[in-house]
Amino acid sequence: MKANRIIVLATLIVGGAFVLHAQAEKGETSQIPAGYRDFRLVSVAREAGKLDDIRAVLGNDLAIKTYREGKTTFPDGAIIARLAWALVPSEENDKVFGKHQSFVPGAPKNGLQFMIKDAQRYAATGGWGYTQFDDGKPVDDKALKTCFPCHEGIASRDFVFTHYAP
Ligand code: HEC
Repeated sequence: MKANRIIVLATLIVGGAFVLHAQAEKGETSQIPAGYRDFRLVSVAREAGKLDDIRAVLGNDLAIKTYREGKTTFPDGAIIARLAWALVPSEENDKVFGKHQSFVPGAPKNGLQFMIKDAQRYAATGGWGYTQFDDGKPVDDKALKTCFPCHEGIASRDFVFTHYAP
């Protein structure tokens, strides 16, 4: 009986530790990196087709430093953000141009994406952790499984497609 009780107790402790560990793991990638909106501009892009958006790629200090030094391998701690919006006509701007020509970002679209460098932690996905937030909420793991297989296409530049725009 006593041995049984010890086993039950041990199971609870180990089980509890697993849950806490899993929560801690999730915590790191289930949160939007602090201050990302103050990251600096790497470049912009326009995606047509199904994505149909206008996007900006931003980098934290480490990422920007790496880009500016012309290096193609990012150090641990580098974070690259990808913001995207619907591209909508601006009547306000068109008025002063006197014709329809101005398009500006509208509502956020296609999620807020991040690549977070930690070579050891994310060794299985080229050293980058991939996250996406739709309306501020993290997307499920299944959606994140698509990230690395496509970014693998640019393995020669540390899995980062975007070039630094001068
Ligand atoms: C089908 C291919 C494909 C998939 C899937 C994909 N990406 Fe990308 N990603 C790109 C391309 C191409 C760019 C550069 C142009 C652009 O932003 O549209 C890019 C840009 C990025 C950037 C900016 C840094 C860079 O590499 O240029 C981040 C951050 C990013 N993606 C994160 C993600 C995340 C997170 C996922 C999964 C939820 C994901 N991507 C899925 C192709 C892909």
